[in-house]
Amino acid sequence: MADSKATNYSLADFHFNDSKDVLAAPADFEAWMAHPDVKQAFAFFFQQFLAAPKANTEILSGVDGKRRRIVNLTSYNYLGLATHPEVLQAVKDAVDQYGLSASGAPLVSGTTDLHVKFARMLAEFKQKEDCLLFSSGYGGNVGAIQGIMRKGDVVIMDEKGHKSLVDGVTLSGARLVTFAHNDMNDLEAKLEAHKGKRRLIVVEGVYSMDGDLVKLPEVAALSEKHGAPIFLDEAHSSLMFGAGGRGVGEHFGIEHKVGISYGTLSKSFGGVGGFICGNAGLLRYMRGYASAWNFSCAPSPAVVGGLIKALEIATRDSSLRDKLWANTKYFKDRLTTMGLNIGHSESQVIPIIVGNSGELLFKMAGEMQLAGLFLQPVDYPAVPAHARRYRISMSSQLTKEDLDMALNIIEDVVAKGLKKSGIDYMSIKP
Ligand SMILES: Cc1ncc(COP(=O)(O)O)c(C=O)c1O
Repeated sequence: MADSKATNYSLADFHFNDSKDVLAAPADFEAWMAHPDVKQAFAFFFQQFLAAPKANTEILSGVDGKRRRIVNLTSYNYLGLATHPEVLQAVKDAVDQYGLSASGAPLVSGTTDLHVKFARMLAEFKQKEDCLLFSSGYGGNVGAIQGIMRKGDVVIMDEKGHKSLVDGVTLSGARLVTFAHNDMNDLEAKLEAHKGKRRLIVVEGVYSMDGDLVKLPEVAALSEKHGAPIFLDEAHSSLMFGAGGRGVGEHFGIEHKVGISYGTLSKSFGGVGGFICGNAGLLRYMRGYASAWNFSCAPSPAVVGGLIKALEIATRDSSLRDKLWANTKYFKDRLTTMGLNIGHSESQVIPIIVGNSGELLFKMAGEMQLAGLFLQPVDYPAVPAHARRYRISMSSQLTKEDLDMALNIIEDVVAKGLKKSGIDYMSIKP
């Protein structure tokens, strides 16, 4: 660390490791982690939940080491399905019949009738011919892209694409080409530049750090014009967008134009795992080549039992979605009235952009937590250094009292703190 200020560094600076012992972390990384300012920032991470990820729950605070009741604006339990009583009963029923583990890869011995039923339900839900279930959302993206793309192919991805998508491309041996976020001119230029190659366009339904939507109709028009299919990651949009909850494909009325529809099961679904839906021929082929599928244990049947119930609940009516959107509107209106910068959020993911001061970001996060609000800081390199932020994950479970309490804390700490700081935070681009 040539520069003496530890907070000027981030995880982006220590990936290169030249320590002679391959089992040792880089010495400068160890020194950085031991610095009191860095320790203080890391106290926000790996904080322990002492109860379920509900809207109102208990944590062991990293800020003061105490057991604290908090209003939770950070978990991905968007529809409350992770803690829904019917889902939990279904998990108990499944665990009694099938045990905890699938105890094998899907190809060999890990497939139960529950897995088959759930995969069929998902394929039908997404209006595709077939579905593959993965035991993690991350693994689903890695396995899907690695299973589809080959050396010599080109993946043309929005620059804000998730790490799992990027890692899938690396593993596939295909070339990764990014286009500027939601910039259709740049997407078209990249499609043109790689004409003649097998190309896949990779976009997300809702961008996870910003909460804005993909311009799917425009992407679909370019997909058709250039003959490059669309891979759509609906991690933050499935069960929430569209009248039937099928995602942004349904929201825009063009789900049939999406080649592969990806989803995670850890967010709105309330469980864990990932899935892709697509045409039967491709998925038959991928069963032989998507390593995260065929070289990894199938999802726990207990979780799959719960997920079947979660999908039933989320699709039997729109009540959870309606509540989520009512909460989201109420919250955003108040944040906007407070004069906070929420970027271009069009969803239940709402950033509050603070700017480039890591110190201020962590200081205010600590103050919010001590006042009873769990709203985690998002630091560089997860987001651009100039646009450090808090990221709200709205939930249908939050009551009006929870929302008002959270808003009052945000107003007292963040709105006032930012005004006092003199930072021109309203002009910061996400
Ligand atoms: C856009 C996107 N895709 C994929 C994933 C991976 O999902 P999981 O956390 O379930 O592994 C995430 C997780 O944050 C995500 O935000």
